[in-house]
Amino acid sequence: MPQPSALPLVDSHKLAQSVINNQKAIAQEISNQAQKQTDDPLRQAQLVKSFGEVAGELHKATRGDRVMTTPRQAMASVLQSFIARKASETPDDNVEMIEDAPVVKFSDGDLLEWIKTGFVAVFEGQEKFAWKTAPDDPDPLKNTSRQLRIAVFGDWGTAAYGAPVIADSIRNDPNGFDMVLHLGDTYYSGQPDEIQRQLVDAFPYRKDALNRSLNGNHDMYSGGKAYHDAIQGGQFQQRESHFYVQNQDWVLVGLDTAYVDHDMPDEEVAWFSRIIAQAGERKVVLFSHHQPFSLLDQQGPNLVKKLEKFLNERRIFAWYWGHEHRCVLYDQHPKWGLFGRCVGHGGFPYFRDILGPVVKTETWKVLRATDDSPGGAILDGPNQYVKEAPEGYGPQGYMSLAFFEGQMREFVHRADGTTIETKSLTSAAAGAKRPIT
Ligand SMILES: [Fe+2]
Repeated sequence: MPQPSALPLVDSHKLAQSVINNQKAIAQEISNQAQKQTDDPLRQAQLVKSFGEVAGELHKATRGDRVMTTPRQAMASVLQSFIARKASETPDDNVEMIEDAPVVKFSDGDLLEWIKTGFVAVFEGQEKFAWKTAPDDPDPLKNTSRQLRIAVFGDWGTAAYGAPVIADSIRNDPNGFDMVLHLGDTYYSGQPDEIQRQLVDAFPYRKDALNRSLNGNHDMYSGGKAYHDAIQGGQFQQRESHFYVQNQDWVLVGLDTAYVDHDMPDEEVAWFSRIIAQAGERKVVLFSHHQPFSLLDQQGPNLVKKLEKFLNERRIFAWYWGHEHRCVLYDQHPKWGLFGRCVGHGGFPYFRDILGPVVKTETWKVLRATDDSPGGAILDGPNQYVKEAPEGYGPQGYMSLAFFEGQMREFVHRADGTTIETKSLTSAAAGAKRPIT
């Protein structure tokens, strides 16, 4: 059933086609608006060039079915948000319901008319939030014992598909949580209405837990101000976009790797260094939106460079990230000793990777190590929450982590909360390789 809080989807394929069908008129309109927006000819040219890439980027991101897709390109993502908002002003004419979610319907003429209302001014008017480094003291945990339990989910800000199912599972988990942590990304571009409906209204807050959300590239495509304002208020009460908690045995650090895309500001690195310097014998676990390495996506060289010292000293025990829309458990890193996990399969419907035979049920598939990355195992299977095309999209879910004194155990859950894999992380452990039974 569609969720009442989801904004309507803007079909990437249809949007790209409409831009192409009306290319001349739209390009002229964008150029006119750019000239009105700024006197700087370089910026005008950048705006026109960015828009010129929108249709191609949208095309690359889609397979043509009516399922949420979005490129990693700021202007295209902001255009999708803009169109969703415009259509929502006249829902009777411009929004239709399909089983998965509401979808925007529009003509080529509608698109041009909507753009004429001032798309470039909206894009240029977006404000990047001011960086402020978090204080050096930890966020106080509500539970001061040597047992902690955390829910982790990434790329979840859709309020559709598996996202509300995951939220219900975490909200209703009878075993309690000390932290509920989203690894970032509210689609399409972290606009105030998207942040309100798909993050603030939809989040699985728990009274027993710290409720936390990290910054993602899609949150930043709008400048991140709506995200930043949201996490500081309401039930989050998060001081900054990066934070840490600690107990006697562990330091758990949430990094902002999106304010500077797939990187960290120097002030944040200095903050992190101070936290590690006072951590003593505690083990360190990182959480971030972006990946330090990957077998299936880009590497994170800037991030790795900033944290190289700590990685080489084997100071990081485990690292959980999103951004890539998939679930991957990596083998222990041969040089850094850390356990890397991608948990970006929370809310965004993602294309299945083509890896060997097509499977009809959830299956861990083994991935071989490369020069960039240790080997690992990826979760493959269909997605029952994408009703338009369940076979084309990968399974959604989340993880929970249990810390008991110096021990750590992780659980991989389906969206409905059932556990499909569990693993104790010790220096001798390897990635998940056995089939799900
Ligand atoms: Fe992302």
